[in-house]
Amino acid sequence: MIRGKHIILGITGGIAAYKSAMLARLFIKAGAEVQVVMTPSAREFITPVTLSALTGKPVVSEFFTANTGEWHSHVDLGLWADAMVIAPATACTIGKMAHGVADNMLVTTYLSAKAPVFVAPAMDLDMMAHPSTRANLELLRSYGNHIIEPASGELASHLIGKGRMEEPENILRVLEDFFEKGETLRGKRALVTAGPTYEKIDPVRFIGNYSSGKMGYALAEELAERGAEVTLVSGPVTVSTTHPQVNVIKVESAREMLAEAEKAFPESDITVLTAAVADYAPAEVADRKIKREESEIPTIGLVKNPDIAATLGARKRPGQMIIGFALETDNEEAHALDKIRRKNLDAICLNSLRTPGAGFAVDTNLVTILTADGQKLPGELKSKREVAADIVDFITNSLS
Ligand code: C5P
Repeated sequence: MIRGKHIILGITGGIAAYKSAMLARLFIKAGAEVQVVMTPSAREFITPVTLSALTGKPVVSEFFTANTGEWHSHVDLGLWADAMVIAPATACTIGKMAHGVADNMLVTTYLSAKAPVFVAPAMDLDMMAHPSTRANLELLRSYGNHIIEPASGELASHLIGKGRMEEPENILRVLEDFFEKGETLRGKRALVTAGPTYEKIDPVRFIGNYSSGKMGYALAEELAERGAEVTLVSGPVTVSTTHPQVNVIKVESAREMLAEAEKAFPESDITVLTAAVADYAPAEVADRKIKREESEIPTIGLVKNPDIAATLGARKRPGQMIIGFALETDNEEAHALDKIRRKNLDAICLNSLRTPGAGFAVDTNLVTILTADGQKLPGELKSKREVAADIVDFITNSLS
């Protein structure tokens, strides 16, 4: 899968840099083109000559070649790349990448790169465990970078613990899997709804719910990672995504969510409705803040909100797939199956409020997929990103 791909191999100054030669060779053997970018201190650990011989390209390390004045464009390099792999990544470089400290060619190239970035940390166990390193790696994750977690074992310090750079064969596999996955939904369009809806009572108050949007955003990113073009219609949430293939449309109320979902639906092959849409909205929105009256308690009249899932379900054409979510407290399966039928869904992801660690706001979820044709696929408690991967696996299997 990586044949013909352009890979920037970023090497930083750690003992594990000797493994980068093997990694460069594996990429080349797999048919990729490799451009090595080294930090100045990486050259203390492995020579540029070894790497340029293996890759057939001069190694880039400085902004320009001192004797000729030739300028090395980090922007061109960043645009050339299909992937950037930083292996080994020291705590120093991880910190610089996290905070945009672009004082060398490697970090400058990283900031210019549009391609997916893979970071394989290598350091001593205490450095790896330090809250600063953990926080910086979290920042990189939040930028959409892929962290290839280090393995545990004997370290250069002879201490035993987590910090060994992942073996080159495994890094190659991560990239191969990534590129393979990225083709599965290429050319498909997906629509995802996420988060709560806010239904205005007056200019400062609303009816809402505790939905965080985490499950929907994870699904949108997972669909995009597999190659789909995703429209994510999102209620008010604090989570965000920077994935270039996810187009986020922010809305507030159920009616606004319906309007945006209706626009994207006709072109969508896959629709996943994770939003916790408010069932009712105030019949009237006060144009001024409702004042507290001593004598009278105000009554808020409610009207029914549109059911987005049912509206889209009624318009579903052959070849379109709609997956819903259901959060139930009792008689879960019977209710979920009833929703599949009423809303004309292809499947529903059932998460029970009775399962600790599943549902609203938390980072984990446990989902059982029930299908319109009677299948029941039980899941396990996992991170929402992993649950999203399982759901997208189900989607891709159903499409093929
Ligand atoms: O009926 P219930 O709210 O339990 O159905 C849940 C499923 O229907 C979810 O997929 C949710 O996103 C969707 N839904 C919707 N519009 C509504 C209510 C629910 O799209 N008004």
